Order: sequence, then structure tokens, then C-alpha cells
Amino acid sequence: MRYLTFALAKGRLAKETLKLLEKIGIICEEINDPKTRKLIFQNDELGMRFFLAKPSDVPTYVEYGVADIGVVGRDTLLEEGRNLYEVMDLGFGKCRMCVCGPASAKELLSKNEIIRVASKYPNIAKNYFKDKKNQTVEIIKLNGSVELAPIVGLSEVIVDIVETGSTLKENGLEVLETITDLSARVVVNQVSLRMEHERINKLLGDLKGVLESE
Ligand code: PRP
Repeated sequence: MRYLTFALAKGRLAKETLKLLEKIGIICEEINDPKTRKLIFQNDELGMRFFLAKPSDVPTYVEYGVADIGVVGRDTLLEEGRNLYEVMDLGFGKCRMCVCGPASAKELLSKNEIIRVASKYPNIAKNYFKDKKNQTVEIIKLNGSVELAPIVGLSEVIVDIVETGSTLKENGLEVLETITDLSARVVVNQVSLRMEHERINKLLGDLKGVLESE
């Protein structure tokens, strides 16, 4: 039997996904070992393999077909813009992509002024301001702690993920506009969906069953 390969976004999403997979009988003991530094795990009985990848690389592994199935946040899918089938919303990892800043920056968003926008998600930020708002902005790519940018004057606003809102609050910032809702999604390689139709559909059906019963 050909191995069905999963690419999971390392970290919290992978943990949640493994818990969910366990509920439908897909178990990989070795992957749950907190000390392991391994990145590939295999369950020979089930004919399944699991990669742990950096979240932004998950869509790449799936598009190229080295993984049949991926689980990753919708933020990453929107940012990476890969050719994949998004087949299921897993309902966890819920948060929002927002334009945030100090309250005083709100008027800059309605006046069509040229402003600076810092973000870990330059494509999402660019598309939002260009297509949705028709506002010319300068995007500044950062790699983390994005809330710092408007505080120190690198940008007027940021485009970032808001979950509980406490990072914003503790830094004197707020949500100025909501771009879109986010959560963990299952994606499938376009060829795999045809070639492994039966196994993938069974898996998706089982997942749906568990999610609906919860
Ligand atoms: C994310 C995000 C926000 C924060 C939002 O950052 O970029 O900073 O979480 O969560 P909250 O609304 O519950 O406070 P992450 O922790 O991934 O760190 P990073 O910004 O350094 O990448």
C-alpha cells in the first residue's frame, strides 16, 4: 500500500490535529514523545507518514505532492497562495486577521492616506489594502512581535492575528478593522485527491463525524 503522507504545522496546531486524529484511530505513538527531535514519523500498520513542518512550508509540501494532506491555519494558506484544495475547517485555532494600531490611527484608514503597514503577512496586507480598500500603502515585512512597530514608530498600523486581544491591550493598541476569520484547515494535493480518493474521503468523513459529535 502507498503511504498516505500528512504535513502538519509544527506547534499547537499539530498537537490539536494529532489529538483529533487519535479519535478516529490514527495514532502515532512516537510523535507524541516530547523529547524527540525527529521530523518524520511513520505508522506502518496504517500506511501513514507524518511530517512536522514550519507552518508556512506546509502548503509547499502539499502543493508539490510530497505530502498528500496538510493541516495548517487559514492565515498561512492566504499568505502563501498555493494551488491546493482546501477541504475542511477543523474549527480549532480560531482567531481573526485584523488591522490594528493605536485608536488615533483609525482616521488614517478612512482618509486614503499613504501609510506604513507592518506585518508578518505582507501578501494578506497588500491584497487587503489594494483590492478591498483601494488604499496605497507601504508594506513592511516583519517576522514577529509585530505590535512593536506602531509603538516605536516603524509603521502607523499592523496587520496581524488577534486571538484573545491581550497582546494588543497590553501594548495600548486595538483592532481597527477585521480582515477575515481564521482557523485550522485541511488541505489536499490536487492529484492525491483523485488518486487516493477513497482513503482521503474516508478520513475526511471520519473527521467530520468526530467534529459533529463534539
Ligand atoms: C501571535 C500574533 C499576536 C498574538 C495574538 O503572535 O502575532 O502577536 O499571537 O494573540 P492574542 O490576541 O491572544 O494576544 P505569536 O505569539 O505567534 O508571536 P510572534 O508575534 O512573535 O510571532
